[in-house]
Amino acid sequence: MGFSVEKTTISVIKADIGSLAGHHVVHPDTIAVATKVLAEAKSRGLIIDFYVTNVGDDLELIMTHRKGVDAPEIHELAWSAFKEAASVAKELGLYAAGQDLLSEAFSGNVRGLGPGVAEMEFAERPSEPVVVFMADKTEPGAFNLPVFRIFADPFNTAGLVIDPKLHEGFKFEVYDVFEGRSVILSAPEELYDILALIGTPGRYIIRRVFRKKDDEIAAVVSVERLNLMAGRYIGKDDPVAVIRAQSGFPALGEVLEPFSFPHLVAGWMRGSHHGPLMPVPQRYAKCTRFDGPPRLIGLGFQVKNGRLIGPADLFDDPAFDETRRLAQLIADYMRRHGPFMPHRLGPEEMEYTTLPSVLNKLKDRFTEVKGAIKAKGPKEKTEML
Ligand code: 13P
Ligand code: 13P
Ligand code: MG
Ligand code: MG
Repeated sequence: MGFSVEKTTISVIKADIGSLAGHHVVHPDTIAVATKVLAEAKSRGLIIDFYVTNVGDDLELIMTHRKGVDAPEIHELAWSAFKEAASVAKELGLYAAGQDLLSEAFSGNVRGLGPGVAEMEFAERPSEPVVVFMADKTEPGAFNLPVFRIFADPFNTAGLVIDPKLHEGFKFEVYDVFEGRSVILSAPEELYDILALIGTPGRYIIRRVFRKKDDEIAAVVSVERLNLMAGRYIGKDDPVAVIRAQSGFPALGEVLEPFSFPHLVAGWMRGSHHGPLMPVPQRYAKCTRFDGPPRLIGLGFQVKNGRLIGPADLFDDPAFDETRRLAQLIADYMRRHGPFMPHRLGPEEMEYTTLPSVLNKLKDRFTEVKGAIKAKGPKEKTEML
């Protein structure tokens, strides 16, 4: 007879359902109504516990339950919380009310309907530390660099070298958002192949990480790209990630360490600019300057019998002050490029563009340049990627 341990699922589901004074910050009334919906679900036993929060204009539902990943009743609960919050947003005239809810009807799963989802199911360890990262004004690929460093870079994660439980390494599931398919790669053996893909974060995104020796789930990132689903600009796909820490996984400090480097990410201002990812405490999780800079919060929980103990506001620490100051300097430096790349995204990634209409307007004014040779390679290369 097999002994089965009851498993816990943590589901982080988020959506921008409207915000106060532009794409800046959620309104407390929308947090209140989402809290009410989840509290009712908790009292009838559908979920075990929950925590509602925000980063910038994104409303974040953190839930624990026994239903596994992609459970229709959990997704439906999140959907109804977002719907109710969106109707409050409409009543208050909040900006872009209902922004991320692409459909009127729910059909069993919120994936594809607009919200971002990061879920994992596991048998709880006696002590189960979990970190939930939530970002605004960026995209899922923003987690590629830090997640790679957490699980594959020995200069970041000492445990890869000195902890026998981590020493074999981790497996990365890399998802191709354009084709909707993924590949599993193993670190350290395939480090360079992993990097060859995830260095293009607009297309190849680390979706999940597993511990190699037993396939235990270690991390999950929301990979939904709203704009690709909607086929038009309706906001960037502000992502979330869940990462397990300690005893057999990277230590909490190894999980946080990569965020001390404010790397450049896509999604600032109109989803069309690069800027530094600034890790902030919850109280600074609002996007102001040039609608940013892109913000990240990290909340630490202990999961115990499905209960969420915490959170600890992990970037509320002077140890990240210099990171924020550097991010601020980088923000200034990038801003001085104005409409020029690489501050502005490349034409294939811009969420807003006037390029087709400008080209159309000028089409009769372009004239052939005598003796000029037309390029082949670079154009084909752009199309290939
Ligand atoms: P664990 O082996 O319990 O994860 O501890 C690692 C540690 O001490 C972090 O600094
Ligand atoms: P969000 O994707 O966070 O709604 O931001 C949209 C935007 O264009 C900000 O400048
Ligand atoms: Mg918004
Ligand atoms: Mg947002």
